[in-house]
Amino acid sequence: MRTVHSLKELRAILRGYRQQEKTIGLVPTMGNLHEGHISLVRKAAEAADIVVTSIFVNPMQFGANEDLDTYPRTLIDDQNKLSEAGNTLVFAPSAEEVYPDGLARHTRIVVPEVSDGHCGASRPGHFEGVATVVSVLFNMIQPDFAVFGEKDFQQLAVIRKMARDLMMPVEVIGAPTIREEDGLAKSSRNSYLSENERKMAPVIYQTLQATAAKIADGHADFQMLAKVADDRLRDAGLRLDYFNIANSQTLKPAAPGDSEITLLAAAFLGTTRLIDNISVIR
Ligand code: PAF
Repeated sequence: MRTVHSLKELRAILRGYRQQEKTIGLVPTMGNLHEGHISLVRKAAEAADIVVTSIFVNPMQFGANEDLDTYPRTLIDDQNKLSEAGNTLVFAPSAEEVYPDGLARHTRIVVPEVSDGHCGASRPGHFEGVATVVSVLFNMIQPDFAVFGEKDFQQLAVIRKMARDLMMPVEVIGAPTIREEDGLAKSSRNSYLSENERKMAPVIYQTLQATAAKIADGHADFQMLAKVADDRLRDAGLRLDYFNIANSQTLKPAAPGDSEITLLAAAFLGTTRLIDNISVIR
């Protein structure tokens, strides 16, 4: 397993692979890797000859009051985990490499509609930052495909639309959420939770599951279902950001006739914001 920091070096290595007609898969990450990320790398390795795992804590996707400064940077640990996961090339660029003219002067990508609502409403500019860095990474690496976790359901929808709209020759692949035994979705931010908050956290997935089961049973009063879910999360001691029931394709509020529905939730435990989602096909 090799780690490169410069685009020049990366391109020289990838040129060699391309000449040998090898397929290249990309797994973009912000590091602090856990089993969820490793599952993305393994999925990419099933289809690609070469997997590039990028590790870059992208300043453009963090809001002013968010955890950019404290976001865990754990490159050595991440390298160790990746070397166990198989043949991956790690690309860990600096902010100067990704944004040579600085953040404020960098071209930005805005993906309309699917970026609205949900996390887009609570974190203005977040998906602009995500879409921009992912498009830069796609151009730097020029992978045949890229794998993203379904845990960030709205992010996956934003990236899919961006790649489609901009005719990017990259297949965007979603991979299932990896969970702890008690159902909590694996996330780098779980490490922020206190012991007590960690015990409370599975209620997010439990509430999603209970609401999804009602929808699968034919309940279609989505406002009422969301209200019951809100109350359950608040009663459990969480500070709710949102609990939304949406059409899986458009991410707009679900209509009773929709056949593919995704429930998306975001809630704070102390200062830690966790997100999760579940999809139902009716
Ligand atoms: O999901 C993440 O870790 C990030 O949003 C991504 C896709 C690596 C872009 O910085």
